[in-house]
Amino acid sequence: MANSDLIIDYDDGDIETNPSTGPSLQDLVDQRYSRRQALRGGASTAAVAVFGGSLLAACDDKVQGIDNTPPVVGGTSSGATAGGRVVTLTGTATDDNAIVTQAFTQVSGPTVALSNANTGTATFIAPAVASNTNLVFRYAATDVKGATSTTDITVTVAPPSLNFQAVGRSLADTVVVPSGYTASVIYKLGDPLTAATPAFANDGTDSGYSNRAGDHHDGMSYFGLAASGNTRDANNSTRGLLVMNHENITRTYLHPNGPTTTNGVRPTAEVVKEIECHGVSVVEVTRASTGGWSYVQSSALNRRITPFTPTTISGPVRGNALLFTAYSPDGTNGRGTINNCANGHMPWGTYMTCEENWAGYYRRDAGDNARRSAALGAKSVQAFARYGLNTSSGDTLRAGNHSWTTAAEVTAGQTLIRKFNATVDPTQPANGTGDFRNEPNQYGWCVEIDPYDPTSTPRKRTALGRMNHEGCCPGRVIAGVKPAFYMGDDAQNEYIFKFVSNTAWVAADATQSNRLAIGDKYLDNGTLYVAKFNADGSGEWIALVFGQNGLTPANTLYSFADQADVLTHCRLAGDAVGATRMDRPEWTAVNPATGEMYCTLTNNSSRTPANVDAANPRSYIDPQTNGFRSTGNANGHIVRLREAGDTTEATRFTWDVYAFGSGADLDATNINLSGLDATNDFSSPDGLWFSAPTNAAGQVTPVLWIQTDDGAYTDVTNCMMLAAMPGTVGDGGTRTITNTGVSATSTVTTRVGKAPGTTMRRFLVGPVDCEITGIESTPDGRSLFVNIQHPGEGGRFDAPTSNWPPVATGATAANGALTKGTRPRSATVVITKDDGGVIAL
Ligand code: FEO
Ligand code: CA
Ligand code: CA
Repeated sequence: MANSDLIIDYDDGDIETNPSTGPSLQDLVDQRYSRRQALRGGASTAAVAVFGGSLLAACDDKVQGIDNTPPVVGGTSSGATAGGRVVTLTGTATDDNAIVTQAFTQVSGPTVALSNANTGTATFIAPAVASNTNLVFRYAATDVKGATSTTDITVTVAPPSLNFQAVGRSLADTVVVPSGYTASVIYKLGDPLTAATPAFANDGTDSGYSNRAGDHHDGMSYFGLAASGNTRDANNSTRGLLVMNHENITRTYLHPNGPTTTNGVRPTAEVVKEIECHGVSVVEVTRASTGGWSYVQSSALNRRITPFTPTTISGPVRGNALLFTAYSPDGTNGRGTINNCANGHMPWGTYMTCEENWAGYYRRDAGDNARRSAALGAKSVQAFARYGLNTSSGDTLRAGNHSWTTAAEVTAGQTLIRKFNATVDPTQPANGTGDFRNEPNQYGWCVEIDPYDPTSTPRKRTALGRMNHEGCCPGRVIAGVKPAFYMGDDAQNEYIFKFVSNTAWVAADATQSNRLAIGDKYLDNGTLYVAKFNADGSGEWIALVFGQNGLTPANTLYSFADQADVLTHCRLAGDAVGATRMDRPEWTAVNPATGEMYCTLTNNSSRTPANVDAANPRSYIDPQTNGFRSTGNANGHIVRLREAGDTTEATRFTWDVYAFGSGADLDATNINLSGLDATNDFSSPDGLWFSAPTNAAGQVTPVLWIQTDDGAYTDVTNCMMLAAMPGTVGDGGTRTITNTGVSATSTVTTRVGKAPGTTMRRFLVGPVDCEITGIESTPDGRSLFVNIQHPGEGGRFDAPTSNWPPVATGATAANGALTKGTRPRSATVVITKDDGGVIAL
């Protein structure tokens, strides 16, 4: 700053000649001064102090009776910090007159959003930086005479890191989160979704679940809404739609005295209630200015999708004879979705719900194998068996879950309940157009939902294959590159799949409003691959394309007729091409910074020392102390892979095991291979999600969230959620372990990632008898939604093993006491950090 800038030459004629009728001398001095100050830009406090002296000396204003001096300012910050944390800037100003404005502005460093910038205390969220980075902010204070002083504040920001104290293992009937965090319940089983729906009594008498939250909250995504109206604003972190799966039910709590059967017949009302408790919720949630979240009971966007909701079939299997039913003789439509487990948040703003243990719901009568074979060929019986649709031993009755088909339809002639009976009716056409012999082929798909359009019809994306779909996680989308979608088939010894679109990504598609059409574009044409893990750390994606890799009518394992046959029976295709049999592939998650794909392998009681392999290397006896011991891979692990060339289009990859689940007390040489301790030991990993790249938790070293659905370590702790900052494939080394099973031993060499140590910490433990599942944050990472599934699952309506979530009712509400004996409810919780920072950082 040149000293000449500081001179205020106010000896002009107006001032000298007209002192009484114009602006006062003092006012004009102040105005001049103010203009100069504006020109000066960012002076430091010290410079302003000098300026003040110069002004007085040069202008002799004391003589003129002018004695304004600029504010004396100071500025501090809450100190050095790391990405994602809240930083407070404090400015102080003293003056001989009143201070009328204060303002913080950013001078340098990665741009941040300042809150309360026009006060003496501003805050911002530190950005994710790759190395220590200085951010400079300027505090300016202006007095009533227009004099401004400024000072600069430097804040040093370190890369993001985990910044919470790990919570201990817990057997308490509560949700435990770290100090400094709050978990609040916002959406529970039975909560009404229209203004007219009565409040939930939670005593088994409630009905009308097509307008209430379903049971067993599972996979979940958050879709931002504009501040008002029903349009999408993907970046809004205070108003959005939660879309979640309702995977299953805990029947005992749904009826006044548990489920009933009279003379072998289930009451229709009970069956309808049980069916409607399955499916998907779309529910609007908002964050109040005071910080609390709630769901909007009367939102026009609220929706339940149930096993009764019409769907359409998309992709290569649409219209194939495998899908002909009495409801849809041309195999193009269906009704409903069921046992929706994990999910996917599509890059264009739709929700993918995935059908997992759908097979269990189907009835098949005694002798159906013979009838089926006669009508549809032996292949049909073989395929049904491969998908867990086999009749009981000796081809006897298979009732289907909850014996739903014993109930009468709500209205005679309907087939809403009858559709769950897949028995061949020999009086009907052989191709299935007169009954529901093919109905099970309509399930086991990924189903795409547009959450912003309550009138839209969900689409079953058959190109992604049919299996016990756990979830469907998109890989990173890069313009010009064909996107990939990673999927696990959750059953013992099943496979990991990848679908690669035929269509390269166009960035503008992320914000189109015809979202299901965009889904058609990317999801109806492409290649389904299955994973093969080699012992040397390499791996390959094998294309499941009719006519390739032996997938032909001549295949001796199964005679593949066409691509629809391959996709509908991609398990058989995986068998035929020699895919690697995994320890129950659950969720997939893609690291947004590296593109590496992680997959939970929850456990596998049928893994024996004799059939371990490098990627599924453990088989042991878990010494559980509650009278039950697990064998095989009792505690599960998390495998990860890096695509060749880091592209979603790759057909080869490298892999290792990111972490092995284990109690901290187990054999460190052969079982606790990741060196877990009391702060992070876990068992049966299931839910898996990387924080989003829209905030610091998903940048530089993204946070991986691991949720458990366990039975092997629940003598020690309830199910939990951990946060981790993993490294990369190959950051560890090889380990040769000895497996000691019930009756055999073996030795195998596996590939283990670097032991996580303090980069993996337990963040949450749930209530009794629950599973932790379903997770997504708001785009800003400051609100994290998590589902607590089936608390008290092991109890009965008259003896619940959990009373979570706690409810204050009636007279007890005033004193906050909990209602004892309350039936437990699956529910969504939202977790916030008390200081407003990004969760986990
Ligand atoms: Fe529904 Fe595989 O968890
Ligand atoms: Ca002053
Ligand atoms: Ca699951």
